[in-house]
Amino acid sequence: MYFCTEQKTTTIMRTKIVAGNWKMNLDVTASIELAESISKEITSLKTENTRIVVAPTAINLYPVTTHADLDNRVEIAAQNMHQATNGAFTGEISAEMIKNVGVQTVILGHSERRTYFNETDKALAEKVTTALKNELDVIFCFGEVLEERQSNNHFKVVESQLQNALFHLEEKDWKTIVLAYEPVWAIGTGETASPEQAQEMHAFIRTVIEKKFGKTTAQQISILYGGSVKPSNAKEIFSQPDVDGGLIGGAALNAVDFVALIKAIQ
Ligand code: 13P
Repeated sequence: MYFCTEQKTTTIMRTKIVAGNWKMNLDVTASIELAESISKEITSLKTENTRIVVAPTAINLYPVTTHADLDNRVEIAAQNMHQATNGAFTGEISAEMIKNVGVQTVILGHSERRTYFNETDKALAEKVTTALKNELDVIFCFGEVLEERQSNNHFKVVESQLQNALFHLEEKDWKTIVLAYEPVWAIGTGETASPEQAQEMHAFIRTVIEKKFGKTTAQQISILYGGSVKPSNAKEIFSQPDVDGGLIGGAALNAVDFVALIKAIQ
């Protein structure tokens, strides 16, 4: 059988999440091996309250969902998708294709997509709509660049990113959306937002969501922090009251480190 027909729609309430964004790394064998190593490492862990997500590059989604021997706690996510249903968009993948290979979640709005592939808030708003229409869960990324923080515009920037890409949604849509605050200056730089900076921004994000969608939604959504999270700093960041977990790049490429992050959030 080539196609996965068995799919579930997760109801997302506020929950702890450790998600690995593998970006453009790992060939097919390495992707399967890493997913399996993580899976093996978590067998002895109690992780009932934690979603564990890994996002291989698009070409490796199908091999990982079909060939990797995984504990069902390991969820697979795509890193991106096009907003159109199908058509002449060379090199792109659609929501239906993602679902079709047994993947339930898509990361949208990553700063590398915004910076290197010119993804605009408008395109992202369309992508979010398409993903939800196809019953895909979304991990939506946003965050300011260094100059914006240095000029004290980071709150304004984050608020406008949320407004432009997500404020067309209805309250019910938030059940399947996770937010990921990723200050661009902390991504892949080794520089991390301090736990206080992360907490301050996450609390602000909840107030932005609350103003438009109400207190319940603002309290129920999970907000991840991303940007140089590693075993040495994870516990402090994850223990902040408005930080529900992490979206991890570099440290997600190593099973021992990634599992250390899962342990850090328990
Ligand atoms: P790093 O953890 O490598 O800084 O990357 C973060 C990220 O971009 C996750 O999406």
